[in-house]
Amino acid sequence: MNATTKKTIPELVGRKGFGRSNAPKTSSKGTAPSNERPKKISMVTAYDYPTALLADQVGMDMILVGDSLAMVVLGYDSTVSVTMEEMLHHAKAVRRGAKNAVLVGDMPFGSFQTGPEETIRNAVRFLKEAGMDAVKLEGGQHQASIARALVNAGIPVMGHIGLLPQLVSQTGGFKVQGRDAAGAQRILEDARALEEAGCFSIVLEAIPDRLAGLITRSIHIPTIGIGAGPDCDGQVLVFHDLIGLYDRFTPRFVKKYAQAASLISEALSDYKAEVEAGIFPGPEHSFTIKDEVLEGLYGGDK
Ligand code: KIV
Repeated sequence: MNATTKKTIPELVGRKGFGRSNAPKTSSKGTAPSNERPKKISMVTAYDYPTALLADQVGMDMILVGDSLAMVVLGYDSTVSVTMEEMLHHAKAVRRGAKNAVLVGDMPFGSFQTGPEETIRNAVRFLKEAGMDAVKLEGGQHQASIARALVNAGIPVMGHIGLLPQLVSQTGGFKVQGRDAAGAQRILEDARALEEAGCFSIVLEAIPDRLAGLITRSIHIPTIGIGAGPDCDGQVLVFHDLIGLYDRFTPRFVKKYAQAASLISEALSDYKAEVEAGIFPGPEHSFTIKDEVLEGLYGGDK
């Protein structure tokens, strides 16, 4: 599988690795068990054409048009404000950039709370208007029936449990979830309810690593971790966090693979300084005109 191979949901689900313990898998050729560890699933968010193109070109398995768009691109204070129309606008641009990754549209707050009919209508818009392959929605047991309604309507659904950014004002901020016995038990049951509802995968956000490992080994669909340790079947990060372009708030679980903010800032101040000093544009960035053409104009440039 390389960057030019079209990814599919069944292929990614087939890479379920049962966490680090990696229970032997039956080989595709027969019944002999194979100890080969499936390749972990890579996922990143993207919100526009150029970043989707880049993610797709490196062979990212899945691209999430996340509602984190609200904060990292649109400058809102939380993810609650972003609308269906805004999500679709960005999802369409991502579709134009990505040809091979599985694309997941994030159901924004308010798009799946008012009953199955409106939820299905909104999810269908992600698939039909924006060309997404699947949708993601936040919530565990209390959203399982909505997830099931979507799956029954033929829409692939990714669950999202643990820290739910859409509910932070209710739950008291961006905090690690499932550290006590009751919380951990609830999250495990959330995962089971979503698997039972027919989700093809579940995002585990900001939960202890060993709880994520236990959940990963307890269900048969891939877990995608963000702040959930190494034992998930895959990982997701927010694009702007991983390239170092969003400095308002950086969660502990983020690894910055680049310092894009300082790189861009340096380029912008170099440009500004060169414009002010008359250095840019130089001859190599300018277009010429023949003397006789110029001279023919109102007697030339006096
Ligand atoms: O919106 C988003 O970026 C997400 C990820 C944090 C999983 O939901």
